[in-house]
Amino acid sequence: MQEATIDADQVRFTDEGPKGSRPVVLVHGFPLDSNVWRHQVVGLVQSGHRVICPDLPGFGQSQAPKPGDPPMSLDSLAEALRELLRQQEALPCVLAGLSMGGYVAFALARQTPGALAGLVLVDTKPTADNDQQKQARNDMAALARAEGAGAVAERMLGKVLAEPHRVGPVSQEVMRMMSRQPPETVAQACEAMRDRPDSTPLLATLPMPVLWLTGEQDELCPPEQVREWAALTPGAKATVIPDAGHLTPIENPAAVTTAVRTFVDGL
Ligand code: MLT
Repeated sequence: MQEATIDADQVRFTDEGPKGSRPVVLVHGFPLDSNVWRHQVVGLVQSGHRVICPDLPGFGQSQAPKPGDPPMSLDSLAEALRELLRQQEALPCVLAGLSMGGYVAFALARQTPGALAGLVLVDTKPTADNDQQKQARNDMAALARAEGAGAVAERMLGKVLAEPHRVGPVSQEVMRMMSRQPPETVAQACEAMRDRPDSTPLLATLPMPVLWLTGEQDELCPPEQVREWAALTPGAKATVIPDAGHLTPIENPAAVTTAVRTFVDGL
């Protein structure tokens, strides 16, 4: 992986494919890292695209939070991502954000809409947390700090994968990816997501082409709900990915690669 220094911290990322082509940036969800997009990186680079895939600050191989650092927020993640892309001369880009990566995309679209030439919203939602969801975030943050990321992974796994993927290699890969995230990163990400604003009003104002993708069995972002959000987004399409729950890039890699590639090539 390559390394950049953003606000004195190390952020790691891959940047592959021809520099002259429009950059496609793949942003992972929670509590994951860039590996969740590994199939799409290969597929999109093979078809001639430049693909940048970061471990967001604190996650994966990027530097973990240190005592005294300001707490993570969706805005701070978006600012760090924009700075990384500015340093790599990769703006404007087409950004695909998976779940929490979509929340980062909403923050970036609010801060700097011109940074985005297109947006793929993958298994994500614009709404803010309600009181019950905020309480669940606090419980999850406490669990991460007390028992580590593995305990969080065990609690999440059944909710994020379609039933057929809950045993076998996909589930093992997701379990490993979730379990290796630093506990303080996991806790702060819960708190950042708890405090994110409602992005529903933003949808009508998004100036760039938008594609919504969701797994046909995504319990967190069900297709009927995603179609309603797509209807609020001018010109947007919604595509349902078969045989997948909430983690479509890893549950049905080929379908997600094709959907993203078709969107990017149509811009
Ligand atoms: C994710 O996949 O990033 C999370 O499920 C997002 C969330 O918990 O809201």
